[in-house]
Amino acid sequence: MTNVPPTAESAILAGAEPRTNTRKVFIKTYGCQMNVYDSERMGDALTGDGYQAVDTVEAADLILINTCHIREKAAEKVYSQLGRLAKLKKQRNAEGGDLMVAVAGCVAQAEGQEIIRRAPVVDVVIGPQTYHRLPQALAKARQGERVVETDFPAEDKFDGLPNTSARAIRARGVAAFLTVQEGCDKFCTFCVVPYTRGAEVSRPVDRIVQEAQRLVDAGVREITLLGQNVNAWHGKGADGREWGLGELVRRLAEIDGLVRIRYTTSHPRDMDDSLIAAHRDLPELMPYLHLPVQSGSDAILKAMNRRHTADEYVRLVERIRAARPDIALSGDFIVGFPGETDADFENTMDLIREVNYAAAFSFKYSIRPGTPGAGMEDQVAEAVKTERLARLQALLSEQTRAFGRQCMGKTVDLLLEKPGRNTHQIVGRSPWLQPVIVDAKAGKIGDIVSVRITETDSSSLFAERVEC
Ligand code: SAH
Ligand code: SF4
Ligand code: F3S
Repeated sequence: MTNVPPTAESAILAGAEPRTNTRKVFIKTYGCQMNVYDSERMGDALTGDGYQAVDTVEAADLILINTCHIREKAAEKVYSQLGRLAKLKKQRNAEGGDLMVAVAGCVAQAEGQEIIRRAPVVDVVIGPQTYHRLPQALAKARQGERVVETDFPAEDKFDGLPNTSARAIRARGVAAFLTVQEGCDKFCTFCVVPYTRGAEVSRPVDRIVQEAQRLVDAGVREITLLGQNVNAWHGKGADGREWGLGELVRRLAEIDGLVRIRYTTSHPRDMDDSLIAAHRDLPELMPYLHLPVQSGSDAILKAMNRRHTADEYVRLVERIRAARPDIALSGDFIVGFPGETDADFENTMDLIREVNYAAAFSFKYSIRPGTPGAGMEDQVAEAVKTERLARLQALLSEQTRAFGRQCMGKTVDLLLEKPGRNTHQIVGRSPWLQPVIVDAKAGKIGDIVSVRITETDSSSLFAERVEC
């Protein structure tokens, strides 16, 4: 006997949900904000291809995993998840279903064919530059082919993807991501990104402005411009001159209704005068900057190929703070890079004390195959990395808490973003990216309201509306 799907009627009789013809996709995203944005855009392409998004694997006909390769743990997560999905697929197939599994993102790019070999459950492997080919790849997979798409094509993937509908934009909320730049030419010796995302490419000004306008027309009030190296963005401006990110931000700030602009992630080497001046001049550009330094030791910075010294970084921070005194800084740190001595590590601690961060992300160095760091001698013992990371995180957490305490009693503008956990509350964001909880009567989602910070616990701030 062959398995045939039940008709809607027999499914209802059997007490099950009627299955419609619409295919359903579950998307799971790992990694950075650029993956979040890419998942949204792949979601748009799949909607155009007749799919509907669902939020459980059980309800899905297609499971799309958008992966991250930045550290070993991140990459290994993918294989353990694929192991679990293999069981689900077997069960589905036994019931006559045809569950498909696709792997996108940086693991897809880095491992390609190897994923198909290690994980027979996978039907499609698709790298970050070929997402516009996803519907065709799935169509081939439905014919029984196992597809691997990991080219770096000349065409712009975003041009090949459908525009996000106003409905989808509204569903995603009042704060949106917009990728303006992709890839990286910096080749820090620890990092996989230049290999998984390819060379630096900037999207053209007109495409970015059109996309920002569409977002704002659908109700978005805050846009975060994204790039692996966002401040390396450059392009031909409306005035015929070559623009950098500072000029782009100025242009976007002219869009009526766009009240907040942010950008991430920046490299210290690409923080030019025009971008610093934009922080000085534009109230729309939020006073928060993620500016990773990785280490405070010149020897380690050199070995990492960061191409600046610790002192140059500190001087840069001074210039940025002179332009925008209330700016909050966040950073990324790696401990235990090959050759890092106790003295090198202490230099990092000193730099952290000198800069004083509002937020930070810190990691033990993770060997990434194919990067120069992997072949370096003097790899640091795991126990040393653990001890250094704990000390570094204790210092950074204290700085973050102090930053929160310093906000007590202050009056700040909040962009109200989403309902709180409890129906009487609404959550907004301060200019410094802090989630702040206020009474739901303070305003509606999308409003900017003036509030006074009244209370703080370990993760959130609480505030009350101030009439102005
Ligand atoms: N483009 C950004 C960073 C992208 S990756 C920049 O230049 O700063 C995000 C962070 O992951 C990095 O800043 C770094 O701190 C961390 N990271 C990257 N590779 C790593 C590795 N091999 N081991 C540990 N952390 C790593
Ligand atoms: Fe990776 Fe360095 Fe490029 Fe950042 S600048 S993405 S850390 S290679
Ligand atoms: Fe990860 Fe790729 Fe982003 S490796 S951090 S998903 S660019």
